[in-house]
Amino acid sequence: MTIKALVFDAYGTLFDVQSVAGVTDATFPGRGATITQIWRLKQLEYTWLRALMGRYEDFWTVTRESLDFTLKTLGLATTPELLTQVAEAYDSLSLYPEALAALEGLAAHRLAIFSNGSPAMLKRLVAHAGIGAFIETVVSVDEIGVYKPDPRGYAHVEKRLGLAREEILFVSSNGFDIAGAKAHGFHVARIERVPSERLRAELAEASVIDPALMFKALRMQPEQLGLHADVTVAALTDLASYVAGLEKA
Ligand code: LAC
Repeated sequence: MTIKALVFDAYGTLFDVQSVAGVTDATFPGRGATITQIWRLKQLEYTWLRALMGRYEDFWTVTRESLDFTLKTLGLATTPELLTQVAEAYDSLSLYPEALAALEGLAAHRLAIFSNGSPAMLKRLVAHAGIGAFIETVVSVDEIGVYKPDPRGYAHVEKRLGLAREEILFVSSNGFDIAGAKAHGFHVARIERVPSERLRAELAEASVIDPALMFKALRMQPEQLGLHADVTVAALTDLASYVAGLEKA
């Protein structure tokens, strides 16, 4: 089996969405943790709502709208300027600690990103992280106006790369994205950012489930939709040996 390209999800897979907490907490001291989690939950929910309503707007709009929802729900005053200022935290998300080494180790392969992010957001994000040299192509759902996990999005990736689905290894840590990529027929590697055993233990021990723990339970576990990753690895740096193994098989 020959993998000709690795395609990475962006938010949650290469980039840590939790790193907006610095900005949310500096702007709303003491409320950062709650804002960070509700915001991310709502952000994806709004992609699905907009998709179902047939009212697509790009991810920048959805990111601001979901932040607006979050702040209004918590009774915090918002202005359009404030929403923009806080939402810009998405332009400078941290890479996961092993991401750079992983991309370096995979440099012999074609590497791409496929994300819900708007082209402008992804351009700023990749530039800020300094990983542009490793990434051949950044594919945004915005090019066709759908959101993950719409199968047309994954099909668009094949077209953009000029590859067949079996030549692509899709890499994500987002359960819904993994399910979507599998439903489309990609070979999928799951990055297990939150090991299930550890999460179960944390949930069992917690007398109160805080927003971060709730987020891990809702969004960082495999979905039970009958569509599972082909392989689960602990970190992006485990992918090189996995791909080498596939090539020998
Ligand atoms: C993305 C979503 C999964 O980067 O956050 O497409």
